[in-house]
Amino acid sequence: MLQKINHIGIAVQSLDAILPFYRDTLGMPFHGLEEVPEQKVRVAMLGIGEAKIELLEPTSDDSPIAKFIEKNGSGIHHIAYQVEDIESTIATLKQQGARMIDEIPRNGAHGTRIAFVHPKSSNGVLTELCQCSSGAH
Ligand code: CO
Repeated sequence: MLQKINHIGIAVQSLDAILPFYRDTLGMPFHGLEEVPEQKVRVAMLGIGEAKIELLEPTSDDSPIAKFIEKNGSGIHHIAYQVEDIESTIATLKQQGARMIDEIPRNGAHGTRIAFVHPKSSNGVLTELCQCSSGAH
């Protein structure tokens, strides 16, 4: 059902301030910036082996990422597992009694379809299911 870790999402206050650390100091390949208006975030993707690091910067004060930073400070926000078929994974998880934030997949960065599992079902670790658009990754 889950194939591998696709990415780890990290909430940051300022991409301009932190991107050079990942890209230049750590030397991770930079895959580009994208704004996801429905989530009110700006996203920078960096590569590490087969996985990625997703830096999430809020674009407004009512962004879920802004609220997360207010509560927890910046830091690890979620772990995203890659799945082949997101609808069937959601159905299976629900059958197993897991609570979903998204029962219907929504659009993520870079053409992916994503759904979040409720942190109550995953011991406080926000968990994302992520289905790549065919051929993109
Ligand atoms: Co993500």
